[in-house]
Amino acid sequence: MKFFIDTANLDQIKEAQDLGVLDGVTTNPSLMAKEGITGRNNILKHYVDICNIVDGDVSAEVIATDFEGMVKEGEELAELHNQIVVKVPMIKEGVKAIKYFTDHGIRTNCTLVFSAGQALLAAKAGATYVSPFIGRLDDISTDGLELIADIRLIYDNYGFETQILAASVRHTMHVINCAKIGADVMTGPLSSIEGLLKHPLTDSGLKQFLEDYKKGN
Ligand code: E4P
Repeated sequence: MKFFIDTANLDQIKEAQDLGVLDGVTTNPSLMAKEGITGRNNILKHYVDICNIVDGDVSAEVIATDFEGMVKEGEELAELHNQIVVKVPMIKEGVKAIKYFTDHGIRTNCTLVFSAGQALLAAKAGATYVSPFIGRLDDISTDGLELIADIRLIYDNYGFETQILAASVRHTMHVINCAKIGADVMTGPLSSIEGLLKHPLTDSGLKQFLEDYKKGN
């Protein structure tokens, strides 16, 4: 299972990278705005800065919502760095753009996916990644993990190579349950990754070992 971090914060990206388990980064326009990154040139530069910190894929989202605009922006984004994956929203023009990018060797992440039907369309268009937003489904009393399981079943039925990127992950149990279901990737905040470390028996066990060592030395 790949671990992506869902942020545009360079310090957090570095921290996750230093842990040695990071496989990539996802961003979106809201995450960019949260870091105060505005203006096309600053945004493009920020993507390159992120690529220079991590080894893996970095999702960069198009803003246009028409086919021509998405293609133009996506080609520009893909030119920035070979780690860039063009993030395209799950709308009709987006499906056309994903198919275009697939045919032209540009990798894509189909975002804002909330149903199995949308995920099926993304795979048919050849998306590299599909991003079902599980946290946002949970927020409206719909089981996000059930969607991951449905997509896993559908993709396995037909051998689709599109990778299931569980997005909008909010906490460690999302990560663990996505791993149990077989999501290929998860993207979440640094806390969702670091939370996996925590166990009180590890802490108390280590404390005891160190105390016992000191007794004999
Ligand atoms: C995915 O690529 C999105 O950036 C993200 O996971 C959305 O998460 P949120 O619902 O916590 O905003």
